[in-house]
Amino acid sequence: MSEPAVALVTAAAGAGIGAAVARRLAEDGLDVVVTDAHERRSGELAAELTERHGRQFLGLPLDVTDYDAVDDVVERVVRERGRLDVLVNNAGWSSIEPVAEMSLETWRRCLDVDLNGTFHCMRCALPHMVRGGGGAIVNISSTAAWETSAEHGAAYSAAKAGVLALTRVAAAENGPHGVRVNAIAPGLIYNEFLRKIYPDSFFEGYAEKRSLVGRVGRPGDVAALVAFLASDEATYITGEVYGISGGVSPHG
Ligand SMILES: NC(=O)c1ccc[n+]([C@@H]2O[C@H](COP(=O)([O-])OP(=O)(O)OC[C@H]3O[C@@H](n4cnc5c(N)ncnc54)[C@H](O)[C@@H]3O)[C@@H](O)[C@H]2O)c1
Repeated sequence: MSEPAVALVTAAAGAGIGAAVARRLAEDGLDVVVTDAHERRSGELAAELTERHGRQFLGLPLDVTDYDAVDDVVERVVRERGRLDVLVNNAGWSSIEPVAEMSLETWRRCLDVDLNGTFHCMRCALPHMVRGGGGAIVNISSTAAWETSAEHGAAYSAAKAGVLALTRVAAAENGPHGVRVNAIAPGLIYNEFLRKIYPDSFFEGYAEKRSLVGRVGRPGDVAALVAFLASDEATYITGEVYGISGGVSPHG
């Protein structure tokens, strides 16, 4: 039997998309490296996966804004697991402030986590993927990248739009080397921590009035799309962005 593909997922130990992706890829048989800025929860999720699947999963602390730390983690994964086949850039951060009132700290932090963090991980992972003969990168953007809306804040929208451009150029550069790069742009994917970022009005009537399928998104909805894009079922797909918003903010 061949060795399982090795996948590194960032921000994988929260209550949302990242953890759902880690669980789904592990379910699909991949060797998932759980990374998150929160050290304890990274270890806990890796332990949960180890227990559930009866094979050893790695859980490592990783703040994606720290380039040297990203480099260390990627090197360690390749050293210990032999290769890196899949990278899921899930880390994101936002604080909603109007442009005319936005603090420089908010602008810089948002660009740093959402855009620079994605670049850091791609910069470190791509040479190994190319050397290994190929791979798949899935970047988590947002419908905020194209919506005309004040709902998400300009820093977040700009960073997530940047992720789409980064995705397309990296796909063009690395397609000939067997590495596919795609992005997913979710609409509202509910988890309890969003209550800290968005006002209650954001959630009111969302399922009934805005979603075309009568519900809000769930982390597992995005995880299923990540799993598909990372798989060999998707070898003709690269440089694309897939919206997943229950029809609220279609792309195209
Ligand atoms: N939830 C949504 O409605 C929604 C919609 C569109 C896009 N997104 C994007 O999806 C991704 C996941 O969002 P989510 O809401 O599902 O949360 P999540 O639970 O997947 O992510 C939260 C986790 O991110 C970690 N994290 C924060 N900053 C980090 C950093 N600098 N480095 C590493 N880890 C860090 C936190 O420790 C936490 O565990 C983000 O990129 C977000 O912008 C989410």
